Amino acid sequence: MKKKRRSQRIALLLVIAILLSLFVAIAMVMTMSGCSSREIAGLPEDSGGKTVTSPAGMTRETEVSAIRSCPPSSSSPPTSTLNAPKPTLSKTSKTLRTTTAATSRQTESRSRASYGPPVMKAPGAVALTFDDGPGQYTGELLDALKEYGVKATFFVQGQFAEQYPGLIRRMHQEGHGIGNHTYSHRFLSETDEATRRSQLARTSDAIERITGVRPRLMRPPGGYRNGAVFREAGRQGMAAVFWDIDTADWKYKDSQYVYNYLLNHTAAGKIILMHDTHKTTVDGFIRALPVLLDHGFTFVTVDELVELRPGEVYPLRWR
Ligand code: NI
Repeated sequence: MKKKRRSQRIALLLVIAILLSLFVAIAMVMTMSGCSSREIAGLPEDSGGKTVTSPAGMTRETEVSAIRSCPPSSSSPPTSTLNAPKPTLSKTSKTLRTTTAATSRQTESRSRASYGPPVMKAPGAVALTFDDGPGQYTGELLDALKEYGVKATFFVQGQFAEQYPGLIRRMHQEGHGIGNHTYSHRFLSETDEATRRSQLARTSDAIERITGVRPRLMRPPGGYRNGAVFREAGRQGMAAVFWDIDTADWKYKDSQYVYNYLLNHTAAGKIILMHDTHKTTVDGFIRALPVLLDHGFTFVTVDELVELRPGEVYPLRWR
């Protein structure tokens, strides 16, 4: 009897011991296999085990582990340094890299709110700009631009906008940019504040009366500039736009010179300065345009080339 009870006790202890061992084993398995180890085992094989550097400078391993970390508990916030949206696990590493690049672009855009260079919207394109008009040759120029489907930007004088409202209307309707070049070509850094203000305001008023749109860009006549000019432009909702390539067409007044200059100097991402008030410029440009198009250049308005806000100056070296 006594022997039977001892056997029962031993059997009970054995069962408890087995149950305890099982419990400990399960607990160990749960602790060691976090959710990430299971997922990393299922990573895409495209990197061939190599470490790939993402545009944000993170290695692919860092990137993946940051993105694929376990969901945080309610008491512990996410520790990931990558502020990227969490993609689903089925996404390829290429998609992950794209997401990271998009996020760094967003960060770049945000940081530009306080400082930094303007964002190029079409870095491979060229912006053609024509100053001082509109005038008697502008219609012919608009015809050629229309024929080739090319957009340009006109920095117009207020006095001529009033004289040729039909040309201003046409520029607007045909998709060209229209900027403010003062009312009567005054050198804005050489004038008093009241003149500066009225030269710009009268011109913007004239353009708005004709097109219904107030200009967002201005170009100081003669390139005469200082802080007061940029501040006044900013107060009137405009950025100041200069140029990268000066054809000096007004000086030489030679259509062959304009043609040669354009073929030799046109470059991607640049703003080119010309004047549609000279017949030689219009003639030389109209001959050069199909050749430049054959060379593969694409043309956009200044607005389409670069993102600018009131008070900003572009290109930056003009500061
Ligand atoms: Ni001018």
